[in-house]
Amino acid sequence: MCGIVGYVGFRDAVDVLIEGLRRLEYRGYDSAGVAVRTGDGLRELKRAGKLKALAEALAQSPLSGTVGIGHTRWATHGPPTDENAHPHRSGKLAIVHNGIIENYLELKRALLEKGYTFTSDTDTEVLAHLIAEHYRGDLEAALRAALAEARGAYAVVAMHQDEDVLVAARTVSPLVVGLGEGENFLASDVPALLPYTRRVVFLEDGEMAVVRREGVEVKDLAGNPRPLRVTEVDWSLEQAEKGGFPHYMLKEIMEQPWVLENTLGGRLDEAAGEVRLELPLDPGAFERIHVVAAGTAFYAGWVGKYLIEKLARLPVEAEIASEYRYRDPVVDGKTLFIAVSQSGETIDTLEALREARNRGAATLGVINVKGSSITREADATLYIHAGPEIGVASTKAYLAMLAAMVMLAVWLGRARGTLDPAEARVLLHEMRKLPRLAEAVLSRREAVKRVAAKYHQATDFLFLGRNLHAPTAFEGALKLKEISYIHAEAYPAGEMKHGPIALIDEHLPVVVVSPRGPWYEKTRSNIQEVRARGGRVIAVATDGDEAIREHAEEVLYIPEVHPLLSPILAVIPLQLLAYETAVLLGRDVDQPRNLAKSVTVE
Ligand code: M6R
Repeated sequence: MCGIVGYVGFRDAVDVLIEGLRRLEYRGYDSAGVAVRTGDGLRELKRAGKLKALAEALAQSPLSGTVGIGHTRWATHGPPTDENAHPHRSGKLAIVHNGIIENYLELKRALLEKGYTFTSDTDTEVLAHLIAEHYRGDLEAALRAALAEARGAYAVVAMHQDEDVLVAARTVSPLVVGLGEGENFLASDVPALLPYTRRVVFLEDGEMAVVRREGVEVKDLAGNPRPLRVTEVDWSLEQAEKGGFPHYMLKEIMEQPWVLENTLGGRLDEAAGEVRLELPLDPGAFERIHVVAAGTAFYAGWVGKYLIEKLARLPVEAEIASEYRYRDPVVDGKTLFIAVSQSGETIDTLEALREARNRGAATLGVINVKGSSITREADATLYIHAGPEIGVASTKAYLAMLAAMVMLAVWLGRARGTLDPAEARVLLHEMRKLPRLAEAVLSRREAVKRVAAKYHQATDFLFLGRNLHAPTAFEGALKLKEISYIHAEAYPAGEMKHGPIALIDEHLPVVVVSPRGPWYEKTRSNIQEVRARGGRVIAVATDGDEAIREHAEEVLYIPEVHPLLSPILAVIPLQLLAYETAVLLGRDVDQPRNLAKSVTVE
C-alpha cells in the first residue's frame, strides 16, 4: 500500500510532509521517512515504526527546506527497518515509491555489475540507482528513461539536490497533484492535500507530473504534454479518507484490481511456468495438508483445498478453526498446516495453528497484516499484500487470499511434478489478466444496483454454487447476512435437492453462481429445478451466455477466464450485491452490528 507526499513551495516542507503522512497512515505504518533539500544539500531522516518515531527523530535532528518528499510504508520487500524505510537515496537524488517493481532482481543484478551498492532489501532502492544511472543533469529525463526499463506498479516521486523540482509518475498505484499559489503538492490520496488546497489533478495510469513552485506540467511517459484536468474536491475529511467513497467497504471493493496486482506482483514467472514464493518449506516433505481459518478466510481456504488437490494431488482438509482444535485432528510431521487470516490475529485460527504445531506439523500463514501473531508463530508466511482492510466485511482480502491459494497450488504442483510447465504457463498467463478482468466486473456496478433495488425487501436469500463455486456461494451469503442483516443460506448446488429445495417459492431470490466451466451444465440443471418451483433466479454467468437468460430472472455477467480462476471474479458481483442491498436498507455498512474486524476471543 504505502502513502507518499511531496511538497515544493514556501512553507517548511517537513511540516507539510508530516501532516500529509499523518493523514495517509491508514495506507501503512511500518516505517516513515522524509527527504528535504536543505541549505546543506539533500538530507533524509527515516525510522522504522509509526510516524510518531519519525516525528520524535525530527525533533532531535530538525531538517529545514522548502522542497521535500515523505513516505509511510506498508512493507512488501524486506522487513520494516530503518534501512528499508523510504526515501531511498542514490547519490544526490532521493525517491519515494508505492507499488512493486516486478523485474527488480534483474535490474539489481545489472546495477551491481556497474558498481552500485545496496543498503536495503527494497525494489525501490533499485529504482533510485536506475534513475541515477540515467541522470545527465535532467531529473525528468532520467526518471522517464528508468521507468522505460522497469516493469510493475508504481507511484513514484523523485527529487535531486541540484534541481528545484519534484518529478512524479504513476502506473496502477494512485497519485494526486494538489495545486496551490506559489506552492504545489503531491500525495497518494486527497486527505493529505486538504489542509492546503481542494484543487487537484488525479494522475492517470502512464502519466508523469513535473511539479515546481510556479506550476505543474502533466505529460505521458514519452514526454508528450497532457492536459491539466483540474478537479475541485468537495469532501469532508472523513469522506476523503475513504478516497471519496461513502464507505470503506466500497473503497475496498473498488480497489481490488490493484490488490490483485499487488498480491501477484513479482511472483509469477510465466516463462518458466513457476511461481516464486520463497517459502522456507520443502514441498516434497508433506503427505497431507490442513487448511484452517474462520469466516471469509475459511471460504478462501476451501477454494484452496480444491485447487491444491487438483494441481498438486495432495489430500487436503479444509476446516473451520473453532472446530479444528477440539476434534483431536490427525496431524504429524508429514502434515502442512495452513492458517488463512486477514488479520493474523483471529484467536480460533491462532490456537488451531498452535495445536497443529504441537503435534509436529509444519505451519504456514497466508496472512495480510505484517508482524501479526500468526506470522510470528508460523514457520513460514505467504503475505497476501491486500493493504489495510478497514471495513468489517472482508472483501479485498478474500480476493487476495484466493490469488494466494492459486499460487500455492501451482507452487506445490510444480515442485511435486504433478503440474507440467506448459499447463502452469497457461494458468500464469491467465492470472496476469485478473486485475484487468476484475476492473471489468467492477465497471458493471449499475447492473448490480438494479438487482439490489429489485430484491432488497426480500426476507431470505438462497445462494448456490458447485465445486469451486460452492465457497463463492457461501461467501456471497455471508456478505449479505453480515451487512444487510437479511437471512441468507448457502448450499453446494447439488445438495439443494436433499432438503433446501423445500424452501423455494415465488418469494425466494436464489443466487446461482454458474460461470462456464466443467460444472456448468449441472448447475444449469439446478437453476431449472429452482425455476420449476417458482424461485426467482439471479445468475452469475459468463459473458456471452445468452442461454442462461431463459431460466434466470436476472443475470450478472463476468468476463471469460480460466475456470480455476473464476472464483476470483464471480464473488465480486456478490460483494456488490450485499453492499448495494445494505445501503438501500440504511445499514451501517462499515461497522455492522455485533461484529468486530478482528475476533480475538474464542
Ligand atoms: O482476520 P481473519 O481473516 O482471520 O478473520 C476471519 C473472520 O473473522 C472474518 O473473515 C469475518 O468472517 C469477516 N467479518 C467476514 O467478512
